[in-house]
Amino acid sequence: MKPKVFLTRELPPKVMERLQQETELEMNTEDRVLTKQEIINGVKGKDALLCLLTDTIDGAIMDANPALKVIANYAVGFNNIDIAAATQRRIPVSNTPGVLTETSADLAFTLMTTLTRRIVEADKFVRTGKWKGWGPLQYLGTDIYGATLGIIGLGRIGKAIAKRAKGFDMNIVYWNRTKLTESEEKELGLSYSPFDDLLKKSDFVSLNVAYNKNTFHLMSTREFGLMKESAYVINTARGPVMDENALVNALKENQIMGAGLDVYEEEPEINPELLAMDNTVLLPHIASATIATRTKMGMIALDNLLAACNGDQIPNLVNKESMI
Ligand code: DGY
Repeated sequence: MKPKVFLTRELPPKVMERLQQETELEMNTEDRVLTKQEIINGVKGKDALLCLLTDTIDGAIMDANPALKVIANYAVGFNNIDIAAATQRRIPVSNTPGVLTETSADLAFTLMTTLTRRIVEADKFVRTGKWKGWGPLQYLGTDIYGATLGIIGLGRIGKAIAKRAKGFDMNIVYWNRTKLTESEEKELGLSYSPFDDLLKKSDFVSLNVAYNKNTFHLMSTREFGLMKESAYVINTARGPVMDENALVNALKENQIMGAGLDVYEEEPEINPELLAMDNTVLLPHIASATIATRTKMGMIALDNLLAACNGDQIPNLVNKESMI
């Protein structure tokens, strides 16, 4: 018997093919986020919910189907799901770690180079026919090569960013809840720094922590105040890790040089002042957006889902306590 699955939005073609073959699928066929009521209606009578980071999954949705065997999230982050509520109801929740690490690290570097080399402005300059030839003072930026990169949160993605930074001959410091061993630090070519010191000495601050109640507004007015006036902040983690209003003020008051953002506090809303600034690069949450990676994420989400429905061990179980 194929498991009955409700999918909240279309996934890449190869994932869809497998879903059609291996599950009894009902899905949202429109290219938009479903309402809570639509997810409640969809989940009724299903074995599994396959959802996205844009779906807020709370206890009311879980209560619509007490027989739900799994909530498989199509993301590594799972702050969109009320994990305590799922655990209380003994519903396993899974995520998709590992496969998006390198792609996300690439994007953090893309934001850094785009910002410092003023790529967006320069591209517009060329396209609008304003370029009349090479000029010694045109689009002067700042070097990444040799600069200090401060990585806040040294999980998989933070480490992958460090590997890339090594290639740019950067001086790499990190702050993490758990300090690495000396041999790990040596291998990655980085050193531990207390949080405030990291902010004071970094030319780039990259946010790579998971979002939870402890990391809410980890970067706010005080923290921007510690950064160098010449420094940039890069956020590819989750929007609420950074206080967006505090960022706007820091940029307006030239406390920092610029910001590269892939995520926002109230997606898809973006503070209009950020939109009007030249020293920001703003992306629509695309850190994992390559065909290969989004396909792998789907395959992993499906593996998790099928394992749960078959009573097997779930490879990427987030709430082990739900199985007790
Ligand atoms: C994730 O998986 O959490 C990413 O934000 C998706 O791009």
